[in-house]
Amino acid sequence: MIVVSSATSNTGSAVAEALLAAGHRIRVLGRDLDRLRRFVERGAEAAEVRTDDPHSLREAFADAREAFVMLAPGLIPGSGDFPAFQRRVINAHRQALVGLDGLTRIVGLSGWAANHAGARGPVWGLRPFEEALDTLTGVEVIHLRAGWFMENTLPMIDEVRATGTTRGLIPGDLPLPAIATADIGAVAAALLTGRREAGAGTLELQGPRDITLNEVTAAIGRAVGRPGARYERIDAATMRRGLLAAGFSPHMADGTIDMTVDVAERRIAMTRPRDAETAAPTTFEEFLARVVNRTPEPLRVSPPAGRS
Ligand SMILES: NC(=O)c1ccc[n+]([C@@H]2O[C@H](COP(=O)([O-])OP(=O)(O)OC[C@H]3O[C@@H](n4cnc5c(N)ncnc54)[C@H](OP(=O)(O)O)[C@@H]3O)[C@@H](O)[C@H]2O)c1
Repeated sequence: MIVVSSATSNTGSAVAEALLAAGHRIRVLGRDLDRLRRFVERGAEAAEVRTDDPHSLREAFADAREAFVMLAPGLIPGSGDFPAFQRRVINAHRQALVGLDGLTRIVGLSGWAANHAGARGPVWGLRPFEEALDTLTGVEVIHLRAGWFMENTLPMIDEVRATGTTRGLIPGDLPLPAIATADIGAVAAALLTGRREAGAGTLELQGPRDITLNEVTAAIGRAVGRPGARYERIDAATMRRGLLAAGFSPHMADGTIDMTVDVAERRIAMTRPRDAETAAPTTFEEFLARVVNRTPEPLRVSPPAGRS
């Protein structure tokens, strides 16, 4: 049995899709069975878990031979203490996976931020998550240090449609190692099923070429009929006001800004060149063509700040 965590996330769903398409038996995990139904209808088992609850996780992983795990969610906008939440998620996964009979391989989603020892904000937990998984014995652990998700641009599509501009703290000409989560899912599925061998350790992944936010905005503009769309760089104080207005707690707004500054100033960066092992195929234009007319999911309300 291959167990796939956070199967409703961008990346977890891509892993589950790739495994189901190849005919594998899988169990998908999520916090709401209803949202897992699309996988169950295609033959998957499903289990309701909370990412910070070791008991539900242990039960769900009990008969796993291979497991895909991730530190989810990547962000809780209203959180008052996100590192505390991430510590609970990390500990819960370690407790759930330690000493499991029959578990041979874990593929963990990490990120390029784990290349930076001083990572701050929502990506703080990626290194500790890797380190916790590395303490497990008798099982091969592969960490996927993926670059900048193309899915980060999804909110920019509506922004361009509405205003013809996008705004952010990252310099518009900074090359970003963008990757589609569908490509991460394909690699994870190949590793879980032994179609691809990587050996334990970390594997960096990025798309076929770097893109800049100037290019992203122009491409979205062309795709939605706003050919003059432009990216505008804003300062940290303006970004902070925007995040607070969007419902972020001051703690999460500050952490998100710290993380973004680490990207802008290249402390968060890839360490390996693109090559046959680290490069994934989907271009930003192909990604955009797939998502541009997709109906957005209804917004889900996060739990109150105290929970996380
Ligand atoms: N964004 C990037 O550029 C990037 C790059 C490299 C690595 N990463 C890493 O990738 C991971 C995020 O991956 P992703 O974007 O695929 O997933 P994601 O969208 O951050 O995670 C969503 C998942 O978390 C669940 N979730 C949402 N809010 C929750 C809450 N308040 N409490 C508990 N669960 C909640 C969702 O369940 P429901 O469906 O039930 O809501 C869903 O399964 C993070 O670890 C991040 O650091 C990100």
